[in-house]
Amino acid sequence: MTTQTFFPVAQNHHKAFGPISVPKRLLLGPGPSNAHPDVLNALALPPIGHLDPFYVDLMSEVQELLRYAWQTDNRLTLPMSGTGSAAMEATLANSVEPGDRVLVAIKGYFGNRLADMADRYKADVKTIEKPWGEAFSIEEIESALDQYRPSILAMVHAETSTGVCQPMEGIGDLCKKYDCLLLLDTVTSLGGVPLFLDQWGVDLAYSCSQKGLSCPPGLGPFTISPRAEEKLNSRSEKVPNWYLDVSLLNKYWGSDRVYHHTAPVNMNFGIREALRLLSEEGLENAWNRHMDNAQRLWQGLETIGLDLHVDKDLRLPTLTTVRIPDGVDGKAFTIHLLKNHGIEIGGGLGSLAGKVWRIGLMGYNSTPENVDTILNLFETELPRFKN
Ligand SMILES: Cc1ncc(COP(=O)(O)O)c(C=O)c1O
Repeated sequence: MTTQTFFPVAQNHHKAFGPISVPKRLLLGPGPSNAHPDVLNALALPPIGHLDPFYVDLMSEVQELLRYAWQTDNRLTLPMSGTGSAAMEATLANSVEPGDRVLVAIKGYFGNRLADMADRYKADVKTIEKPWGEAFSIEEIESALDQYRPSILAMVHAETSTGVCQPMEGIGDLCKKYDCLLLLDTVTSLGGVPLFLDQWGVDLAYSCSQKGLSCPPGLGPFTISPRAEEKLNSRSEKVPNWYLDVSLLNKYWGSDRVYHHTAPVNMNFGIREALRLLSEEGLENAWNRHMDNAQRLWQGLETIGLDLHVDKDLRLPTLTTVRIPDGVDGKAFTIHLLKNHGIEIGGGLGSLAGKVWRIGLMGYNSTPENVDTILNLFETELPRFKN
């Protein structure tokens, strides 16, 4: 019989920590947004098994609610276990085979991420670019499709780095004309900005839980059209990412319900509740609420004398970019808001770093009261940050 040797337990990482306590924050930045209290209650429910019949029914509810939120009939619609970037990666991992030409229309930070990911899946990546704060015209998209003849066009609907909403009308028809799939990032639009995936002819889309859905980060809604499923089914090689392989995940989220990975059940309780709240409010009402509150914010900021970075007809209701006036220490102001008022707003990313603030009004946080709170702080406290 072997005896096991026990060593004295090393004490160097054994410190006395108190129970967790998190500061109260109003999250008016690019995400996450505050979670709805009903969602937090759902997250705190005791976990059950990920193959429990009750949980399996809940999975179907989440899928049905996601189809409503996205306005799609796609059979394969599910929340990836991971954040938005995991679902982003899932769209590319499943649709790209080495050498496939992927055209990425880049108008901000997240377009660059799409191009980077497509490259890692060995796509032949081509890009077209717009200055940060602009959107592509339909003519620009058509001319690039004609020039590059890609098998996938990838783009971001709601560019969180710039506050631009890409007009989608006609792009899906062009993709059909040029025989390519349309892949769309809806991370900052789902739940807050009109989305009609099927009518727009979107083949692959993904989102996140932590913005317009008022749930904490942790799930990445994903959907794939029958046209994109055909491409997946005719792959000559396996999807080079086991965890995100939709043909495997389909056995868990499809009719068989067999084990793939241990689903984060509480996160799915949370998103189920978040999506239920969205469907209770109704999509049109949620979209109108976001637009009304965004307009209240835009008007208020302009009245104070601040410039908005994006033309009105391209502005996202969920995310507003405000130009930092000359002579103002933008970073010091954001730190002040967080430290002294418990309010988070974002700074600029990439080419807009140091040039804009980003104010998010997403999901549960899109309220007139929150707009008035932040406007009041800009009006009364910003003057102190001018040099
Ligand atoms: C437009 C866009 N795409 C992708 C992502 C990545 O999502 P996540 O940070 O949840 O991984 C984000 C994150 O904010 C985003 O705004």
